[in-house]
Amino acid sequence: MKIELKKSQNGASADVMVVFASQTKKGKDTTTKISHTEISKMLGGSVADKSITGKAKETVLFREMNYAGVRHVLVVGAGSSSDSETIRQAGAAAQKALAGLKITTAMVDVDGLPGGASSVGALTEGMILASYKFDELKSKKDDKKETKELAISLVSKKADAAQKKAFEQAVILAETVNFSRRLGDMPGNLMTPTILANSAVEAVKGTKIKVTVWDRARIKKENMGGLYGVAQGSDQEPRFIIMEYKGAAASKKPVVFVGKGLTFDCGGVSIKPGAGMEEMKYDMCGGANVIGAMLAIAKLKLKVNVYALIPSTENMVNGSATKPGDVHVARNGKSFEINNTDAEGRLILSDALSYGSELKPQLMVDAATLTGAMVVALGNIHTGFFTRDQKLAGKIERAAQASGELVWGMPLVDHHAEDMKGTYADLSNISSGKGAGSATAAAFLEQFVDEGIPWAHFDIAGTAWSVGNRLNYCSAKGASGAMVRTFVELAKQYE
Ligand code: BES
Ligand code: MN
Ligand code: ZN
Repeated sequence: MKIELKKSQNGASADVMVVFASQTKKGKDTTTKISHTEISKMLGGSVADKSITGKAKETVLFREMNYAGVRHVLVVGAGSSSDSETIRQAGAAAQKALAGLKITTAMVDVDGLPGGASSVGALTEGMILASYKFDELKSKKDDKKETKELAISLVSKKADAAQKKAFEQAVILAETVNFSRRLGDMPGNLMTPTILANSAVEAVKGTKIKVTVWDRARIKKENMGGLYGVAQGSDQEPRFIIMEYKGAAASKKPVVFVGKGLTFDCGGVSIKPGAGMEEMKYDMCGGANVIGAMLAIAKLKLKVNVYALIPSTENMVNGSATKPGDVHVARNGKSFEINNTDAEGRLILSDALSYGSELKPQLMVDAATLTGAMVVALGNIHTGFFTRDQKLAGKIERAAQASGELVWGMPLVDHHAEDMKGTYADLSNISSGKGAGSATAAAFLEQFVDEGIPWAHFDIAGTAWSVGNRLNYCSAKGASGAMVRTFVELAKQYE
């Protein structure tokens, strides 16, 4: 799919013209309005008989209208508010409707959108996100859904600087989200730690990001006992990926992103049941998504210094694999006993958080598909975040408000940390208490964040994939890119 924004021109032709219908609610009454005057006149009856209601995500196609050089007219419901998530979903609905037609060109009358330039951005994001599909491993492409040929022109009487900026930023953001989604969707054999690191190296070309990659020997030398210990059970080499972007003065403290890059989690010796295990290829989505956020920040040229740190390994079970009861030592010197080898995410994150602390950041946030308990608590609706820093919690709420991603603040108190104390080592990697599995995991991570560093942990176990039932710009199955947009918004607050 190609997409551009341009000034509307008389006589411009396209296979389809997309216009928006919105709703105004007053008490019990709802009125529907198609903002494009001429088309509204043509379709007035359809509003009267309620075949067009303007309800968010509704799409109604009128074939062969042959209106001013346009064959078909597609009316897309924009709902009753200019809330960016509503517009984003309207964009996705429009893209899907267009992709289902055998057409190649479409004009979208963005002047009909409620809201200002930011609505153009949200619409663009929705369209690009919805155009993502993961079919590169099929020998025959699903041509019914083929959208490669589709060229979309967003047209506006204005097409002014504000709209252009919103459009360009939306393109960058949505394309990096799609980049992260592809990393997530790749199967474990084709997205090993080595391939993940190489993908990061490849992707930063043309940006100001510097990437450094540590191999198994270097990881050992750097005292990353958590990452090294998990990687022991795998024949694949682990990687520690360090991405660095300097968008501000060197004296400005960095923002540090950490992402769990577990390319396949079979559980290790404490092996997982077979059913659904294939989904554990998504256990690197935290890593993939911070790589995406980093790329977006560099392409948006934000005036902030940022690091992204991705500990990456498989959690497998060969003859050298960690056994329950084994003790390893993390980079910051704390020892842990591994009472369940399936609680491996926290182990590889421990070293990354220790390393991140050494960078003396003004903010450190991590994203990880960390616990099944998170899925139980919040399903695939909200990403749970954990922080003891109330000021930071406020910033996160604001960032999520701006990005349209749903987050929910979860508890983290001393009792959770108490439950993670070890019998033979400083810490145990599983809780001695019952329940609160996501909070006790967060409390474990906290042990590796130096005092005074504003830090939050995002458990994306429920939201990293298979959220298409509620987000129409995500596939039914498949990665979502959760928190890429929110992390970019968060970074903007540190410019
Ligand atoms: N990657 C999993 C968490 C997970 C499970 C994410 C299901 C998404 C869906 C993680 O490494 C894990 O296995 N966690 C264990 C921890 C337990 C052993 C304390 C879990 O949640 O069962
Ligand atoms: Mn696990
Ligand atoms: Zn895992």
